[in-house]
Amino acid sequence: MGRAVKRVVYDERQIADKVKEMGAAITAAYPDGELLVLGLLKGSFIFLSDLVRQISRPLQVDFLVAASYGDKTFSSGTVRLLYDPETELEGKHILLVEDIVDTGRTLGRLMELLSDRRPRSLEICALLHKHIATDLKHPTKFVGFDAPNEFLVGYGLDHAENFRHIPYIASLQ
Ligand code: PRP
Repeated sequence: MGRAVKRVVYDERQIADKVKEMGAAITAAYPDGELLVLGLLKGSFIFLSDLVRQISRPLQVDFLVAASYGDKTFSSGTVRLLYDPETELEGKHILLVEDIVDTGRTLGRLMELLSDRRPRSLEICALLHKHIATDLKHPTKFVGFDAPNEFLVGYGLDHAENFRHIPYIASLQ
């Protein structure tokens, strides 16, 4: 695979405890209305599947697949949906689920696009947040861990599509 895991950053127990806590916070935050949990693929697939099982209220699940144009290290690109959720968004509480907020560019563009669909509310939930972005327009309402600024893999996060399946989060540095 070329690269090797150097350090476990969050182990399985820490992740499970955190996801349980986040599920309880989300349950409490949405006392009424329809809730649609939207997972951004591919990185969120494991987090989302664990998270929804910790939310004790009715909800629907759908996914987004987004493609960014241009080099990810520059902010000039735009976002295009490769898979657009078929579920109606208008009038619903939308919770956009991300594995990690890094530069925040992916979310910045997606939030604009989703708010045009007239949801009742639109919030972000991310398991990991690096807090390095300086121009985030949309605060992340539900954050799991304040993550170190390292290259993280596992629990859905990849390096060149590898490591997504490992059950803990590790650093490659
Ligand atoms: C990764 C990650 C987030 C995004 C975070 O996705 O899953 O979606 O980058 O980076 P940002 O805050 O700098 O925008 P990636 O584009 O690698 O796709 P993936 O989810 O399929 O791994």
